Amino acid sequence: MADPTLLDQIKDPKNRADPYPLFARLRESPVSRQHDGTYVAATHASVASLLYDPRISSETLPPSERPLTGNPFTDWIVKPIREHITDTHRPFIFRDPPDHDRLRAAVMHQFTRERVQAMRRRSDRLVADLLNRKCGAREIDIVDDLAYPLPVTVICELFGVPTEDEPKFHGWATQLATALEPDSLDDAEIRAKNSRCFDEISAYMADLIAEKRRHPADDMLSGLANEAPSGIGRMGDYDLIATSILMLVAGHETTVNLITNSMLALLRRPDALERLRAEPGWAPRVLEEVQRFDPPVQFRTRKALADIPIADVTIPEGAPVVLLFAAAGRDGCAYADPDRFHPDRHDNRHFGFGGSLHYCVGAPLARFETEAALAALAGRLRKPRLIADPPPYRPGAALRGPQHLRLAIAGID
Ligand code: HEM
Repeated sequence: MADPTLLDQIKDPKNRADPYPLFARLRESPVSRQHDGTYVAATHASVASLLYDPRISSETLPPSERPLTGNPFTDWIVKPIREHITDTHRPFIFRDPPDHDRLRAAVMHQFTRERVQAMRRRSDRLVADLLNRKCGAREIDIVDDLAYPLPVTVICELFGVPTEDEPKFHGWATQLATALEPDSLDDAEIRAKNSRCFDEISAYMADLIAEKRRHPADDMLSGLANEAPSGIGRMGDYDLIATSILMLVAGHETTVNLITNSMLALLRRPDALERLRAEPGWAPRVLEEVQRFDPPVQFRTRKALADIPIADVTIPEGAPVVLLFAAAGRDGCAYADPDRFHPDRHDNRHFGFGGSLHYCVGAPLARFETEAALAALAGRLRKPRLIADPPPYRPGAALRGPQHLRLAIAGID
């Protein structure tokens, strides 16, 4: 029987630099009950089984609750209306079929091959420009100088957000990503900050959508706001706002962390970094291995819609369920030599982009942005050396990655 407090230990920031020994202990039981009644799936087989189980729901957010303002009109009229709208128009990552499927299909319709290919070329250029800005420097922070600005520019350009408004999304994305950290939802202060931030970004998106209706352009938001594809239809305004926010936020911190977790793995293995420098086409294999070995999305939370017998337990209806993707990635029953970083492996069925209905819609973007970043960093940084190992980590346990990844360098080619 695994220790029922292991999940608490995983969430504890002092274990952030290396939670993998804790995951190994959790894998002793395919699914274990934690002291607070949460069930954790930690083996490859149990995560796969629950991820594809229709009795598992993604509707995990508690009812929204905005802080009181002291103004009776706002508190008694506006607040309940806004809360109702928020609760009935959640972003589709937090929704089940059929609503999830309809909203997701509308987004996928806009992910045309032409748009994705154009952004791929643009991404190579953006990476080159960001590195050019550091020419002559003897130190670089992979997070601030490259990994952080890249994804926000890519998604803003794809959605047609004006360049001058991009900086606003940095703060919004970081704040709203806390909604993916289960414990933050119990923290009244974080919830209040999130709802203020959600109101700000919603107001911004409502104006931008109105603008895209007046002057449609060739971007995803114009497509979503104006087109009604057959069999899918046009999204209502509140769903469109929630969907745009999801798209603008979901791919930000995750991509930052994939780039930095990958660089950290390479810098700790100079032979691998040297190989990538000589062979930039190896980057896709490196990033897929990082998705197994040290993934940015370590776990996602679900809810059981019925009693679910699995392995030697029964998850009761209503119980929260944690799918520990990062533990599944190190499962010796699924992978040969699981603790070895080995990009050439052929058994890599990782959950880094999830799986089933909620498989990441932004995976192609995340892949080409990370490939471009890794190939350029390996190819252009001269004699890179980690200044701190382990680096300082971001506070969250669900989205894991360094806060900064500072390197001493001899220059940039
Ligand atoms: C390295 C970067 C990324 C990683 C590691 C990542 C990971 C994931 C994972 C694990 C899920 C599944 C969530 C679940 O099962 O509940 C997911 C879903 C999602 N991702 Fe990503 N993601 C990345 C980049 C992106 C980007 C760039 C975008 C947007 C442009 C994006 C948009 C989404 C959306 C909208 C969903 C929800 C899909 C659904 O519910 O059907 N992601 N992502």
